[in-house]
Amino acid sequence: MNILEIIYEDHRKVDTLFMEIENTSDAKKREEFFAQIYKDLTAHSEAEEEVVYPAIRAQLPKVQHLYDEQAQMKQLLETIKSSNGSDASFMTRVKQLKEMVQHHVKEEEGDMFNKFRQTMNEAQMEQLSKQFKEAKSRIQQSMAS
Ligand SMILES: [Fe+2]
Repeated sequence: MNILEIIYEDHRKVDTLFMEIENTSDAKKREEFFAQIYKDLTAHSEAEEEVVYPAIRAQLPKVQHLYDEQAQMKQLLETIKSSNGSDASFMTRVKQLKEMVQHHVKEEEGDMFNKFRQTMNEAQMEQLSKQFKEAKSRIQQSMAS
């Protein structure tokens, strides 16, 4: 899998988690789904910031905007993490997070993916995917400990 395919797959996985969290009214389950969303988004976005954004920075000046959006996303993740699944505001914030993520994903899969296709060959994108996976598993491990 090249870097675009692996990012695409992560994005679809979080789409599914948002669907699942919205489909339950059980506070405990909401917290469980959110814990997964939190872990997945954190590992994904930190690995992007470490491996993916720097690789495309020179070709994509708006990459700074992607960093900024992820910084906002992280703040919201922390706010939700410190609240209860039974709070009235919990799902309002989750919905806000979903919209934020969907907007961000659109930008990545549009402008950013195009730049990769225009400026990198398959071997380079495979190499990047290897680095991305390594960064992600290292981040996941440090979150677990
Ligand atoms: Fe992403």
